[in-house]
Amino acid sequence: METEVITLLSKREIEKMRRAGRLAAELLYYLSDLIKPGVTTLQLNDEAERWTQAHGAISAPLGYAPPGYPPFPRSICTSVNEVVCHGIPSARQVLRDGDIINIDVTLIVDGYHGDTSKTFFVGEPSPVARKLVEVTEECRRRGIEAIKPGAKIGDIGAAIQEYAESQGFSVVRNFVGHGISNVFHTAPQIPHYGDRGKGRRLRPGMVFTIEPMINEGTWEIEMLADQWTAVTKDRKLSAQCEHTLAVTEDGVEILTPYPGEE
Ligand code: MF3
Ligand code: CO
Ligand code: CO
Repeated sequence: METEVITLLSKREIEKMRRAGRLAAELLYYLSDLIKPGVTTLQLNDEAERWTQAHGAISAPLGYAPPGYPPFPRSICTSVNEVVCHGIPSARQVLRDGDIINIDVTLIVDGYHGDTSKTFFVGEPSPVARKLVEVTEECRRRGIEAIKPGAKIGDIGAAIQEYAESQGFSVVRNFVGHGISNVFHTAPQIPHYGDRGKGRRLRPGMVFTIEPMINEGTWEIEMLADQWTAVTKDRKLSAQCEHTLAVTEDGVEILTPYPGEE
């Protein structure tokens, strides 16, 4: 079995993660106010890029090209309705009343990454859209609650999967949370499904994301021809939300607190 090295961050590095994380959450909060019917996802992207530069930070997604992917062409991901993740902002995509949109921002501040996302309503959501988004946020909350030194990575996914499925929804398997530091995506992988007691042990100084993608119907996805956009196979709704987290001596710290939320 391969045992990847999981880097433990120093107090000094975690302080840098805190600064990047807080700024990323502030950007998300800033963008939330711009979401209205008639706005294009490219307008949101351009506002994000402008705000990021004005705050002396860098958009990590712009030009990001992991092995096997073309460079991501925009500064944020905008995933509308059946889009599971990595939606590419476009001038042709106009938001409409009743849509749900996940905005995923990752900022680099002083070399360190803050990665956070939230799903917003455009106008009035349908009852199932509202429930899906509420369940997704509760999944993230339960996943975070499972984090403390000595717990296992599998405890996180089990808590998320149990709740999502109890509500009649499904958990995407193809994308997972990830270690994050001065590197965007690193070990460990954090599946949003799985078995309690399985996987690596959590230790103080580990920093990673939890970013459950929860589907109304099947968990299966398809990739679009742009090689980034993941959509649900049945084209039903998908929601997501993400925090960057640090394992502390006695629990967990949310590094991307959303303004106004605990
Ligand atoms: N922010 C996404 C994540 O949560 C990754 C986006 S990669 C991009 O891991 F290139 F699409 F931006
Ligand atoms: Co992430
Ligand atoms: Co993200």
